[in-house]
Amino acid sequence: MKNKPGIKEISETFKKALHTAKRSHKHAGLINAEDTSIIFYDYSFLKCRLEQIRNSFPADILNTVAIKANPLVKNLKFFKEEKFGLEAASLAELYLAEKSGVHPSKIVFDSPAKTEKELEYALKLGVRINADSFAELERIDNLLKKIKSKSEIGIRINPQVGSGRIKITSTADEYSKFGVPIKNFKDELKNSFAEFSWLTGVHLHIGSQGISLKMLLDGIGAVYEFTEMTNDFLQIKNLPNRIKSFDIGGGLPVRYKKDDVEISVSEYAKEIKKNFPALFSKKYKLLTEFGRWINANAGWTASRVEYVKKQGGINTAVIHVGADMFLRRVYNPGEWHHDISVLDCNGEIKKGKKKRYVIAGPLCFSGDIISTNILLPETEAGDFVIIHDTGAYTLSMWSRYNSRQMPKVIAYLENGKEFTVIKKREKLSELYSFWS
Ligand SMILES: Cc1ncc(COP(=O)(O)O)c(C=O)c1O
Repeated sequence: MKNKPGIKEISETFKKALHTAKRSHKHAGLINAEDTSIIFYDYSFLKCRLEQIRNSFPADILNTVAIKANPLVKNLKFFKEEKFGLEAASLAELYLAEKSGVHPSKIVFDSPAKTEKELEYALKLGVRINADSFAELERIDNLLKKIKSKSEIGIRINPQVGSGRIKITSTADEYSKFGVPIKNFKDELKNSFAEFSWLTGVHLHIGSQGISLKMLLDGIGAVYEFTEMTNDFLQIKNLPNRIKSFDIGGGLPVRYKKDDVEISVSEYAKEIKKNFPALFSKKYKLLTEFGRWINANAGWTASRVEYVKKQGGINTAVIHVGADMFLRRVYNPGEWHHDISVLDCNGEIKKGKKKRYVIAGPLCFSGDIISTNILLPETEAGDFVIIHDTGAYTLSMWSRYNSRQMPKVIAYLENGKEFTVIKKREKLSELYSFWS
């Protein structure tokens, strides 16, 4: 098992990247002066995460990766090569999945706002669809009267097991905008399976980060009990339909701070097998949709300190990313943490006496602050602030405010043995096209 890149490894990798950019003709341009921020991805770590998922669940299940966590096409293609499917939460993500070469049978389409046209497209393509509501089931039924489809269709159920630590990314409270709440609509849900013979799957996803193992298992438990009860009901009524697939969603939390709880995927899978053995048998086809657990710790971001301003006893280090990439961190710092370190302009870990800093982003509003009060070794212009664990829900939430260019993304293997630019820094002309 590979640990997430720590500051020593990051420093080694960054030094190699700077060195490679200077020395190798082939890699000239790996890091240029205009690369004021660079996002790095440790593909060795990413690969290890995928392996752990594969080794924890039965071989015949469908593991997908939630595109929303990180839609970089090179990553999506990497997941495809590793035999993973993709979970898409919009038509555009569906397009990304298709264009990345993933077979429709390995794509899951979730979203609470699918239009009729989008449903028609998805049904024709044959991807799995998780309907979010009874109204969506009606739409699908009408479409299936006109269209032949290979799509497997499930319904998203809110197991109502409560909110996790972070309210705005929890989806299993008594009220949630997602899915059908199980306590309020158990009979209606059951009757949908009796009514629609094409409805053969259940889906749940109870939230992202801040969710305990107990809560994840309670969520699966509530939907599992419903599934078994519904299949018994269908059998007693002599109806041909059965629930055959069970999609457990994502939501496995990761460690951003030392004392954060991380649940290993093998522990999670073991508990599922112990508590709900039928999910590990041929009776059900199991699906997963992990995003954060795969991506978050694989990424880190280096952003150059442009100025250090000293005013009224406060040191402000101005860097080149802020709320444009760290939307959650900047607007809700109490709930979204990233460790921060500093390297000098050659990639060496900064040492020496520590001082308190404000780390400020470049955007035109006072609240664009990554950290309000952090102890760091003395920092100067030209150093690089390293923001840790930036592989998920950061670049994918990029905001266009002030029209700053999206940074370059570099993937690497084995602590910098090999570097590949997987996304170029956005050009000013591309930005112009965006707004045109
Ligand atoms: C339906 C669905 N599946 C999967 C995920 C991925 O969650 P995570 O990245 O926490 O694993 C999400 C994220 O919110 C989601 O909404």
